[in-house]
Amino acid sequence: MSDAKIIDGKAFAANIREKVAAGVEKLKSENGITPGLAVVLVGEDPASQVYVRNKGKQTVEAGMESFEFKMSEDTTQDALLAKVEELNNDPKVNGILVQLPLPKHIDEEAVLSAINPDKDVDGFHVINVGRLNTGMAGGLVPCTPLGCILMLRDHFGGDLSGKKAVVVGRSNIVGKPMFNLLLQESCTVTVAHSRTADLPAEVGAADIVVAAVGRPEMVKGEWMKEGAVVIDVGINRIEKPEGGTRLVGDVDFASAVEKASAITPVPGGVGPMTIACLLVNTLTAACQQNGLEAPKM
Ligand code: GUN
Repeated sequence: MSDAKIIDGKAFAANIREKVAAGVEKLKSENGITPGLAVVLVGEDPASQVYVRNKGKQTVEAGMESFEFKMSEDTTQDALLAKVEELNNDPKVNGILVQLPLPKHIDEEAVLSAINPDKDVDGFHVINVGRLNTGMAGGLVPCTPLGCILMLRDHFGGDLSGKKAVVVGRSNIVGKPMFNLLLQESCTVTVAHSRTADLPAEVGAADIVVAAVGRPEMVKGEWMKEGAVVIDVGINRIEKPEGGTRLVGDVDFASAVEKASAITPVPGGVGPMTIACLLVNTLTAACQQNGLEAPKM
């Protein structure tokens, strides 16, 4: 029987949302500002529709204004760029999120680059990537890695310095920003990927394992150091032998829970943190745009 702590992302996210709501309330009463988040959805992707609905609901629950724009699948790139420009210029909009993936005929990079970096609550604009990389103030950090780092800080009582961390996966959305955030916390960070020569050895050396490869149950507990802290970013739907499907992470939970001192489950770990951190970023953006200090989370 394992004595690993199962990190409750659902409760943690609810706590973050409460802090955001308190920050919003303060901004309203002291400065007369209501933060606004605009979400643009192009097309009918069912998973994206669910995300967008949840984002809208949680934005309103936090006391912020939610603006939703649904555009048809055959929307032109120019029409989408015009919408982004309109939102860039709208003073009621503090945060802009264009839901990904976009239809194939639209150049994702061109759209992300068109968003005002100060309103880029996804943190995907190269200006924000550069701010994160250099440690420059005023940046917005991608939501999922931000959620991971908040959970890690909480677990370690705020001090990660000197820990060995391995990030499995090198995506722009999770792996690379996670590397930078862990480095900022003074961890010694390794980024492993599909060409890493000895993945079990890299994982085995780490005090902190962050898995973000998008491959179901790939990272095994047998590789891990006794007492490692494991953050599983993966969300994969797999077939059950008896029929039907279930959600699993990128970590093989059954073996990892035997080695870890703490681990995030899937579902209910990192997942709920992403929208909570989107709300954090929207509040941060609203404060920064008005020359105010953003509350610490
Ligand atoms: N699609 C799935 N997750 C995300 C996200 O965090 N941001 C955006 N823009 N699109 C997504």
